[in-house]
Amino acid sequence: MRILLIASSYNSLTQRVRAELRDRGHTVPVEITPDTPAVREAVGRHRPDLVVAPLLRAVVPKDVWTAYHCLIVHPGPVGDRGPSSLDWAVQEGAGEWGVTVLQADEEMDAGDVWATAAFHLPETGKSDLYRNELADAAVAAVHLAVERVAAGEAPVPQTGPAGTRPPCRQENRRIVWEEDTTERVVRTLRAADSQPGVRDRLLGGEWFLHGGHPEDVLRGRPGELLATRAGAVCRATADGAVWIPEIRARTAPGEARACKLPAALALAGRLPLLPEVPAPPPVPGVRTWSDIRYREQGPVGVLSFTFPGGAMSTAHCRRLLDAWRTACTRPTSVLVLGGQRDFFSNGIHLNVIEAAADPAAESWANINAMNDLVEAVVGTTDRLVVSAIGGNAAAGGVMLALAADEVWCRSGSVLNPHYRRMGLYGSEYWTYTLPRKVGADMAVRLTDEARPVSAAAALGMGLADRVVDCAPGAFTAEVTRLAARLASHPAARTRIAAKKAEYERREARTPLASYREQELSRMRRTFCDPEAPYHALRRAFARKEAPRAGSPDGPGAGATAPADC
Ligand code: COA
Repeated sequence: MRILLIASSYNSLTQRVRAELRDRGHTVPVEITPDTPAVREAVGRHRPDLVVAPLLRAVVPKDVWTAYHCLIVHPGPVGDRGPSSLDWAVQEGAGEWGVTVLQADEEMDAGDVWATAAFHLPETGKSDLYRNELADAAVAAVHLAVERVAAGEAPVPQTGPAGTRPPCRQENRRIVWEEDTTERVVRTLRAADSQPGVRDRLLGGEWFLHGGHPEDVLRGRPGELLATRAGAVCRATADGAVWIPEIRARTAPGEARACKLPAALALAGRLPLLPEVPAPPPVPGVRTWSDIRYREQGPVGVLSFTFPGGAMSTAHCRRLLDAWRTACTRPTSVLVLGGQRDFFSNGIHLNVIEAAADPAAESWANINAMNDLVEAVVGTTDRLVVSAIGGNAAAGGVMLALAADEVWCRSGSVLNPHYRRMGLYGSEYWTYTLPRKVGADMAVRLTDEARPVSAAAALGMGLADRVVDCAPGAFTAEVTRLAARLASHPAARTRIAAKKAEYERREARTPLASYREQELSRMRRTFCDPEAPYHALRRAFARKEAPRAGSPDGPGAGATAPADC
């Protein structure tokens, strides 16, 4: 079928639905449609067999939904209505949730039901849930709905109780630090983690707080800042404390939107002298937060990391490189990089770069720090290295994964192995790793077309070596089990020896440094040219300027523009 996707932004779910429908042989153009006229124009131009809206804030007009089957993905179970479904579910601690594919109708979310799927809500942030459990359920429901449309079936009218819930506004998200428990504060922060954040006053300013993790040991006067760790700040609640990883300054109407930044960086200049408290070794039942963790199980080491939005600043890269070097001193034969749920990496930290006094210099520092990390991974020749991608990865984040001997993806992962949308040539040794994995022709196609690739398609083209078919919450355990099997394989020792010999042969022929030099000379030119599209594209991305209507298959599309509500 020719299935047109219409969306408010080219977000993760839209990309995944597109990639997986294409895997099933459908033709799937995408149009960004910020408003009703754009919806009408896009549908009229494509004249598709079916319209699917994975994420749409605009209203589909009657003349469109009477002429075409229009399927709307609603992030809530049947009967749930309103624009903040997932926010309410997380904030209220719902254990089970659902996603429904509805026929577009006169009234929002009230159309007939084409398909629905239920899922369990783990204790994590809204955006992680959206990209993982919800995306798994949504894709399953979309496939079912498409099959039903193709079979000429009819949707089922909504019966039973239905209730439109109002939008979740800042007054619903308010934290009263003197009264609210850690559980309540964490739920409130997680329900707003990506957008819109929780508006709050702190150190004489107004901010949006993004994301939250419980802390069971540190204590202080409620509301007080207690410590920093890896760029996050720890703040006391009524009965404990929470770690807040990211903060965004509230700007006045008409002013450019501030970038969401690592909390300590956003508060720099105002932050009192606080202890930098390193993450203690994990103790069962005692909660704290750390963005980098290492654990070992027999011959397997797992170095997991989780950076908000998958963005890796110069500081993130350097800390991860230090942790990598330490992990390499351990007597393991398989070292797993990643292996946690959600984003693997989305490359250099565009927000930190955008907020820097000299973005060109920070871009340069960041890409060099990424390259140092990738170089260390490629150069690890005394053990097998596996990159385990539990969620999505893009740009330099995909290339980081390719530095390993094997790349394993969870079945729901979406990979974007290209830099074109940010106007960059790219680095992270991609000119060495990508053609080696997929062949020269496919490398050119992937980087030119800049399309999202599903885990199954990645396996098919050799970009990934294994698809781990499991729920998001089971990925870490499953990867550890598979890594143990790899370590105990009789051929493991021979593989390590062959890998070392191959590395030395290649270094003698074309040293890795020459790939880096060539890539960085292109990157430097872009960074140092104020007219290069990269600077405007980065600004639009980091400051979330409104997306333009049209196809996202060009550079720079895909930024979202939520209001400071
Ligand atoms: N730097 C800073 N922030 C980043 C980032 C990066 N490299 N990549 C993602 N993020 C942020 C997003 O701004 C978003 O923030 P929000 O929660 O405040 O909305 C969050 O991470 C999640 O990203 P989002 O774009 O909503 O996720 P998605 O799954 O819909 O799309 C990508 C994923 C990777 C396609 C998209 O984020 C992207 O294009 N990122 C930039 C990749 C890149 O060009 N990197 C630099 C070159 S190495």
